[in-house]
This record gives sequence, C-alpha cells and structure tokens, in this order.
Amino acid sequence: MSKQWMSLVGALWLQSMAGTNTNFPAYSSQIKKLLSISQIQLNNLAFASDAGKLLGWFAGIAANYLPLWLVLLIGSILGLIGYGVQYLFLTNHINSLSYWHVFSLTFLAGNSICWINTVSYIVSIQNFPLDRQIAVGISTSYISLSAKIVTDIVDVVNVYAPSKRAETYLLMNSVLPLFFAIVVAPVIREMKIDKSRKLSDGFRVMFVITIATGIYAVFTSVKPAISKLLPSLLSLIGMVIFLLLPIVVPLVENMKEHWHGKCWIRRDPRICDLSKLEEDVKTPEEVIKEDSDVGFEVMEEIGAKRMLMKLDFWLYFFAYLFGGTLGLVYLNNLGQIADTRGFTETSSLVSLSSSFGFFGRLLPSLFDYLFSSSFNAFNAKAILERMLIVGCSKIYGAACYADLSSDYYEKSCPKAMYTIKNAVANAVTNERRMGASLLRLHFHDCFGCDASVLLDDTTDFTGEKSAKPNSNSIRGFDVIDKIKSQIEKLCPGIVSCADIIAVAARDSVVLLGGPSWTVELGRRDSTTASLDTANSDIPSPSLDLNDLITNFANKGFTAKEMVALSGGHTIGKAQCTTFRARVYNETNIDSSLATSLKSNCPSTGGDDTLSSLDATTPVLFDNHFYKNLVNNKGILHSDQQLYSGGSTDSQVKSYSTNPIAFDADFAKAMVKLGNLSPLTGTNGQIRTNCRKIN
Ligand code: HEM
Repeated sequence: MSKQWMSLVGALWLQSMAGTNTNFPAYSSQIKKLLSISQIQLNNLAFASDAGKLLGWFAGIAANYLPLWLVLLIGSILGLIGYGVQYLFLTNHINSLSYWHVFSLTFLAGNSICWINTVSYIVSIQNFPLDRQIAVGISTSYISLSAKIVTDIVDVVNVYAPSKRAETYLLMNSVLPLFFAIVVAPVIREMKIDKSRKLSDGFRVMFVITIATGIYAVFTSVKPAISKLLPSLLSLIGMVIFLLLPIVVPLVENMKEHWHGKCWIRRDPRICDLSKLEEDVKTPEEVIKEDSDVGFEVMEEIGAKRMLMKLDFWLYFFAYLFGGTLGLVYLNNLGQIADTRGFTETSSLVSLSSSFGFFGRLLPSLFDYLFSSSFNAFNAKAILERMLIVGCSKIYGAACYADLSSDYYEKSCPKAMYTIKNAVANAVTNERRMGASLLRLHFHDCFGCDASVLLDDTTDFTGEKSAKPNSNSIRGFDVIDKIKSQIEKLCPGIVSCADIIAVAARDSVVLLGGPSWTVELGRRDSTTASLDTANSDIPSPSLDLNDLITNFANKGFTAKEMVALSGGHTIGKAQCTTFRARVYNETNIDSSLATSLKSNCPSTGGDDTLSSLDATTPVLFDNHFYKNLVNNKGILHSDQQLYSGGSTDSQVKSYSTNPIAFDADFAKAMVKLGNLSPLTGTNGQIRTNCRKIN
C-alpha cells in the first residue's frame, strides 16, 4: 500500500474527529442550566475551549521527542478526561463541579485538539514535502466536519430529549477521538522521504472526494427538509462512506506501484533503486512537467527563536487567537438566541456551520492546487518567484541579479532542462562519482559563475584548469561538452555553458538523494579566465576555521552558509595529497579511520589514490558528512575544522541530527552560490563550444 497516501488518509480521519470544540453550542444550554451561569460566563467557557490551544506548543515540543502514536494517545486521553468528566457531571455521576472546574476541563479538552492536529500536520508536511500546503489544507478541512459527524451520530442515538442529546455530544467528544487514534495509529507515521513528485492525480481524486463530501454534508445538514427524504441512520451511513472514500487513493496508488514495479512516489534512493532512474527521465514532457512541478520552494526549518521573531508567526498567532475564538463565541450566542426563540434545532445550526466550515477550509488549498499546477497564467508561485527575484538583492545582497529567472529558456529552448537532466542521469548512472564532480565543477566555477573554469588555455590567457585546486583534480568537462553539443543541436547559441553547469550540479545532487532548488538562469559565458583568481579564491584543504570563514566571507557568505555548503563533501572523493598531512600528523582523527586511510595513502608516493570524502555513505547526498565530523571522521583538515571546538561546532552537531535543516540550508546556499556575479545582458557571450570562446 502506498504508505504516504495512507498516512494522509489517516490524518484526514483524525482531523474529522479533532474539531470536538465546534459542537459546544449544541450542548452549552444544558451546561448553562446545570451550573446556573450567565451568558457571559458561558461565552467564557467557549473561549476556554480555544484558549486551551494557546498551550498547543506543548504538543509540538512533545512531538520532537515522542513517537507520533504516543503524542496521539496523550492528546486523545486529555480529551477523554476533559469531556469525559463533564459527561459524568451532566449524567449526575459527579455532583459537585464548579464553574471553574468546568472551565479547566474545557480548557484541557481544547488543548487535546492540538495534540491530534500536531500529529496530522507533521504527517502531512513530512510525507508530502513539495505539496505540503495542499496536504495540510485537505486534512485541516476535515476538522470542520467533526461537529457534523457527531451531530449525525447524536441524531441516530437520541432524537428528542435535549438533555440526553447534550450527554451524547459529550460522550462522543470524549471517546471518538480516542477510538480514531487507536484505529489510525498504525498507519500514521513519518516516512523517510527526501522529496516527492507532485502527486497531481492523487490530489485530483482527493479534491473530487472532498468536494463531494462537503456537498453531501451541507445537503444532509438542512434538517427539516432532508429528514423526510433521508432518515438519520441512512444519513450517518452516507457520511461514513464519504469518510472512507479517500482510501481509494492509496489503494489505487498501491496497485499502480505493484503493476509498474517501481516507486510511484519518488523516494529516498535508499528505498528506490537508482538503476531505475533512467526510467524516470524518459520523456521530455514528463521531465519538463516535473521541473515546473518541483517549483520554487525549499522547505525551510527554522528554530523556535527565529520563529518568534517572524512577523508572519505573530500575524498567524493573533489571527488564530481572535478569529477562532470569536467564531465559536458567535456560534454559541447564535445557538442561545435560537434556543430562547424556541428553535429546537440548535444542532442543525451547528451541523450547517460545520459543513460550510469544511468548504471554507478546503477552498484555499484547492486554489493553491489549481493555481500552482494547471493555470500557468495565474501561477502564484511564479509570481512570487518574480517578486523574490526583484526583491532578493535585499536577501542576498550583491549576489542577486534581477536579469536571471528560472524560466529563462522556457520559450527559447524548452527542452534544455530535460536534455541536461537526462544527460546527467546517464552520466551518474554510469559512474556515481560524476554527480560529485559536477557539483564541485559548479563550486569552482561559481566563485565567478561564468563557465570560465571550462576554458582551455589560449595564447591570451592561461585558463583555470591548471590552478592548484583544479589541476589533475577537477572533472566533468566531457559531460558538459556532451550536454552542450546536444543542446546546440536543439537551439544553437541560446543556452550558456555557465547555466548548464549550474543545472547539472543541481540535478546531480537530486539524483544522489539530496535537496532540489530552483536554478536561476540567464548567465552568459566569460570570454576570459584567470588562473590567479582561481588560485587565490578557491579554498585550500589546509585552511583553519578562521581562514575558511574569511575565504567565504570574501564572496559574501556567512559562516553558517559556509558550513552548509561544505556538506557538499557528503559525496565524492579526495586524493591522498589532500589529506595525507591530516592522517599522519593530526591527533583529532578517529584512529580506525586513520588506519584505513593510511592503507590507501602511504606517507610517500600514491599521491593520487582516492578515498571517499564521506566514508559512511559515499554516493548518497545525506547528512553523514556532519555525523562523521562529530566523530572525528572528517577526511580533510578543513572539514574537521568545522567541528574542532570552534564557533561552528553547534551547527555541525545540529546538521548531524537534522537532515531536513541541512537540506534546506544547503539548497538556499546553493541558490546564492549560483547567483554570484554572473555575466548578464550584453556582457560575455553564449559559447558554442564550452572549452573556447567563439
Ligand atoms: C570549504 C572549503 C572547501 C575546501 C577546502 C574543499 C576542498 C576539496 C578538496 C581538497 C577536494 C578533493 C579534490 C581532489 O582530491 O581531487 C574536494 C572535493 C570535493 N568538493 Fe570541496 N572543498 C570545499 C568546499 C566545497 C563546496 C562548497 C562544495 C560544493 C558545494 C564542494 C564539493 C566538493 C565535491 C563534491 C568534491 C568531490 C569531487 C569529486 O569526487 O570529483 N567542496 N574539495
């Protein structure tokens, strides 16, 4: 079974029971009577339910340390206590509850919702990294259905007596979330996914099902008119069927995976065999579509401190604090007004608002889906991207150019991206290390980003190929040549060598399991090269931490970005000359690593024998580079400097346990690297042959 989809279905089910506070107006009159409290006090109880969510961050912290099933269990047990004790009070099993007791219980019950929401959000976000807005949007919309579902059950169990109906509401609120949590716990988990393809078909079906569910919910909420046509039991059965329907998506996906014998959802290459990559890059249309699907964003994980400093967070916080609570208090008052006017169907109001609320929550994600995939003219992401390009000099300082854009070749050479991707996939399938070599080629070019690194020596200048860091070391020229000649056949004189290197580096990282990013395009190629600049600018492996920081600062990078970029050493190989001094002279190196490196790198001779920069997972782009550093297993002196008691230790440590943060920071830093002083406009040229000027 396609586990990602199943976990989303689990999240939907959880959410469909998590909005227990929204049916408060349906039983609040009974509480008011029993406690003999005023309308204002009753409103305060409605507020308490939402105020419980102010402590929702407890759930967030717990989810960092506990397995999801346990977070779920804690949340549903809090709800069991919060609503259960009130149920016992209403049924006279507990006699003496004060107003403040009920207030605290309501607060607790409100808080329980956050635990369940947290689990649903985590699952939706982690399992659908590129479609997280849509996944979260769909699952969140189901929270609005809770009141409708409970009302349907109450209608079946007890049709008339208001006091009994109130009891049933509370009983359902207390036990149903726990029941759902137990049912769903086995399927709800975070998968190990680095990225997922846009799952258009699955989401399309999900939207059809959810819209149909919403229409059904609204239709069956119009009680007086409908009850004659559809008895309560049938209405409930219909609702249950609609709730079960989303399971169609994982079932179909499962069958597809079975028949096609390959991962339908692109997973971490540890799960999905790399040899099947070729299959994945077959048709240009597929790849071009996928490129545009992958979109602009890089998932960004920020710490709690930075989150609290963000305006967005506070806007969201206050909107939620006032918005949500106002809605509930309003509905509660509406219920009371209806009551005093002798309208006995308060629960119909609850049910109706629940059903419409479902649409209210669903629509934003539906728009997001439509505007981000189908209607390119209104592509919100593309608009955002443009805005970012114009505004990005603020973010990236001098490193950002408004002349570059991600769709630069969309019209002039639409198959360029596919051609690069396909050629890189072939090269990496032939030799995995080539992915690393192409990444390094980009880094060495991009302390300039103008394809100067590709130029052969001429009578006018000595090229960069013979610079110390490049000589007998830098690789990948043949792959770039091959791509260039293929593209020249498709659209002569259009696509620059500098852009080809930048895209090839990104595609290499993705193929080896790393993050993706949008490459800004439109760089032009240099007409000269500088051996001296290459020698002075490209960092040497013998640098200490401070010199590394200065070296990158000279190009506008922070120390943090330098540490993230160094993670490029999670793939590829180094020659004995680059680490011999460390292995034979340094003490902060793991002894077993030193022994094994020495066997391959004698103290004299064997200068160009190779060892992997990340001995643990040499052809996977993951965070093992940092895990190695924490264990003194860095190969290069410069690498181990990042974790040797200095200012960057904490960042290395954090990346060693948080691959998502590393991926996000690496991708962001690569965008910045790629935008370092490119030639644009009429500067430079588009070389026909990457090795020489036209
Ligand atoms: C922090 C400063 C850096 C230093 C001192 C450094 C140094 C080195 C050295 C000495 C090698 C081995 C070359 C050889 O033996 O032939 C190497 C390989 C490599 N470097 Fe760096 N590097 C640095 C930053 C980066 C960055 C920022 C990236 C990419 C984002 C990168 C990507 C690579 C890759 C992928 C390889 C392996 C290439 C292959 O296998 O062909 N390096 N680096």
